[in-house]
Amino acid sequence: MEIKEAIYKRRSIRKFKEQKIDEKIIEELLHLAMAAPSAVNARPWEFYVIENPSVLNQFYLTFQSMHYHAPLAIVVCANELNMYHKAKNYWIQDCSAAIENILLGALSFSLGSVWCGITPQADKVAQVKKILSLGDNIIPLGLVYLGYPDEEKEPRDQYDESKVCYIK
Ligand SMILES: Cc1cc2nc3c(=O)[nH]c(=O)nc-3n(C[C@H](O)[C@H](O)[C@H](O)COP(=O)(O)O)c2cc1C
Repeated sequence: MEIKEAIYKRRSIRKFKEQKIDEKIIEELLHLAMAAPSAVNARPWEFYVIENPSVLNQFYLTFQSMHYHAPLAIVVCANELNMYHKAKNYWIQDCSAAIENILLGALSFSLGSVWCGITPQADKVAQVKKILSLGDNIIPLGLVYLGYPDEEKEPRDQYDESKVCYIK
């Protein structure tokens, strides 16, 4: 799939089939995630890949706004110990770029995905840390649900001329 086509085609999918995702595909998605740009190439990210139904169910029961049944979730976190001191505050951008790569990469395997925010909501950060028993130095940025889509969404272009300023 062409990149341009994938960008328009990527939509948040919140209904998934039960079909599991092959391990090789998961691994490829993680390769794509880690190819993302990162300030001073610090790559502070860590990926918690969750297939365990009881952990997925804990997410389901805990969060109203990310209340989806998917066969897989990837929680994208940053490790404070891997943040380069001069670029410490870029971890959100670094991890967000990795998340977008997962979302776009998912399309090439006919997978659907939705990005659910964790940081900066302190309550969600604490709940996710508790569910996954994350250490003090690990900050969860976002959770991506992945699976074969059980809903269809149209590709779309949200171009808005009023948000553009050309300086020539
Ligand atoms: C930082 C961030 C946090 C988000 N959090 C949630 C969420 O908690 N639950 C959810 O269902 N969707 C969440 N989304 C998905 C947005 O709702 C979705 O991207 C937006 O409505 C545009 O729709 P589209 O993804 O189909 O283009 C989030 C997206 C981003 C970028």
